[in-house]
Amino acid sequence: MIYLDNNATTQIHPEVLAAMQPWLGEKYGNPSSMHRLGQESRQAVEQARYEVAAMLGCHISEVIFTSGGTEADNTAILGTLAARPDKKTIITSTVEHSAVREPLLALVASGYHIIEIPVNGRGHLDMASLEDHLANPDVALLSVMWANNETGVIFDIKAIGALAAGHRVPFHTDAVQAAGKVPIALASLPVDMLSVSAHKFHGPKGIGALLVKRRTPWQPLLRGGPQERDRRGGTENVPAIVGLGAAARRAAKDISSPEYTVRIATLRDRLEKGILAAVPDTSVNGDPQHRVVNTTNISFTGLEAQAILLLLSQHEICVSAGAACSSGSLEPSHVLRAMRIAETQAHGAVRFSLSAFTTTEDVDEVINRLPSLISRLRSMLPTG
Ligand SMILES: Cc1ncc(COP(=O)(O)O)c(C=O)c1O
Repeated sequence: MIYLDNNATTQIHPEVLAAMQPWLGEKYGNPSSMHRLGQESRQAVEQARYEVAAMLGCHISEVIFTSGGTEADNTAILGTLAARPDKKTIITSTVEHSAVREPLLALVASGYHIIEIPVNGRGHLDMASLEDHLANPDVALLSVMWANNETGVIFDIKAIGALAAGHRVPFHTDAVQAAGKVPIALASLPVDMLSVSAHKFHGPKGIGALLVKRRTPWQPLLRGGPQERDRRGGTENVPAIVGLGAAARRAAKDISSPEYTVRIATLRDRLEKGILAAVPDTSVNGDPQHRVVNTTNISFTGLEAQAILLLLSQHEICVSAGAACSSGSLEPSHVLRAMRIAETQAHGAVRFSLSAFTTTEDVDEVINRLPSLISRLRSMLPTG
């Protein structure tokens, strides 16, 4: 099987799996218990917190473990609004993941005003529009993603954060698709809150973190026990937290080596060039110069992405149409729509996302098989 759907999820790294195993078995203590079994778990959780802080360049006290990217995003948004009850406007972009879009949409019913900043055809944020809207004194929060899950396009987080800081607006970034792909040094960035999710960088599913810088106006979302220093109640998911820590340690090491990113980028470019050369009526969506190294989003003009995915799946090739969460719907993705990609191209957009486990053979196999599969689909299109 050839797996090119790593923005949906990644394979757990064998090292991560090995690190987790004891915590699924004999090491079952509750980190809040005072006895030895509990204290072993406490140490494991704190070691993982250290690894996450090291990967993201922040202080350990800023790391709050969550059940994944979705909880981190919801907590950042709702936690900020709870701390700033007098402000009713939230600024975001038109291309956010549903983990940000949906909680924001739900807030409209409670009287919140959501401003979506547009992007251009290459997927970049309209900075002039952002600056205009930040001047509104009613803004409670700015939430803009770091890297787009569908196109891989990277926003200029430093410049966006500087604008927000200039207007004293708290800034949250969903870095779920950036962590493990671009270096992150939170301490020196004008970012107040940042979300990550382990399963996007070879860790387990159902675990992530929200980083909240000191002095950020923010309140907890999940209240319960005193875990996470009263910032997220609930007994810690120790095996998953250990997995996140191990994945963060690996990712920090990988990302610091230029060979690692160059290797993935080279394979991605080989795949992209190969497909564009071998299959007619194809084009790349999103700024090719400012993308995470593992992602390419390619339109097969005139086709439906769903049909391509199903046929590729029958041939043991796993890819995705835009966001995995929106597969099953025949609507083109909101991201490509926001970029004003023509309907005939947006409907046939397929996301190929690679990982460290992708091989040259995988890439060449896809390039070899794709032309005949695509022409088979095109031959089935009604003519005229
Ligand atoms: C950009 C982005 N944000 C948030 C999420 C949600 O993360 P999780 O699956 O950990 O809830 C995803 C996952 O697809 C994502 O790509």
